[in-house]
Amino acid sequence: MPKIIIANWKMKLSVEESLRLASKLNVGLVKSHRQVIVCPDFVSLPLIAASGFSDNFSLGAQDCAIKNNGALTGEVSSSTLKEVGATYVILGHSERRQLQKEDDVTINEKVLAALEAGLKVILCVGESAKEKAAKETKKVILKQLKGALKNVSLKKSPKGAEVLIAYEPIWAIGSGEAMAAEGAAEIAAYIIKEGEKLLSKRPQVLYGGSVDVKNAALFLKQKSISGLLVGGLSLEAEGFLSIC
Ligand code: 13P
Repeated sequence: MPKIIIANWKMKLSVEESLRLASKLNVGLVKSHRQVIVCPDFVSLPLIAASGFSDNFSLGAQDCAIKNNGALTGEVSSSTLKEVGATYVILGHSERRQLQKEDDVTINEKVLAALEAGLKVILCVGESAKEKAAKETKKVILKQLKGALKNVSLKKSPKGAEVLIAYEPIWAIGSGEAMAAEGAAEIAAYIIKEGEKLLSKRPQVLYGGSVDVKNAALFLKQKSISGLLVGGLSLEAEGFLSIC
């Protein structure tokens, strides 16, 4: 199975910059043997889809609403995201947990809404520096998994339903201090074990947090790590393509 590389552009690019980068990836990914998923912002996503991106990558959104229809001013539903070209959606990113105060109940509603609409989910979990210091990493992750995946069974979901789990230790995000690959592999194995119980299917687990051109290969070498969720490095074509 090819390893998966996900680009999370966050809110870092203008529409023009997003289109330019997508077009460079279109060319550069032709020879890639990876599965690449690019997650632009809500506004750029349909424009990239309409600009005819190639079969070499899929598009993902960075969030979705808790329902697929309703009086939710300012929200965007999974069904609409699918309609305009998204295949995946990132949910439970620590930036949304922290800044938008999203809790496990909200994330669970979003996971259920996304799967119902036929989007594949990239669920993020991970501990803070304080939780790491208190040796609570596994406990925190288990709580996040149980909360986000409540009533989610891939056996009962529509055909093709998928939940990828991204392990992103919060302290490693944007800090330039990635986790050691062996440590990340151990946590990934734990997530596979616990995730399988909840999903009735063995999930693929990715690592995210200060991935760079040097450390990417170390993570990708690990058996339990199926791919990478990349922030900063994904904003620039040359570096990102070098890991794809
Ligand atoms: P960085 O790769 O910039 O640390 O960001 C990781 C991330 O948050 C991806 O979702």
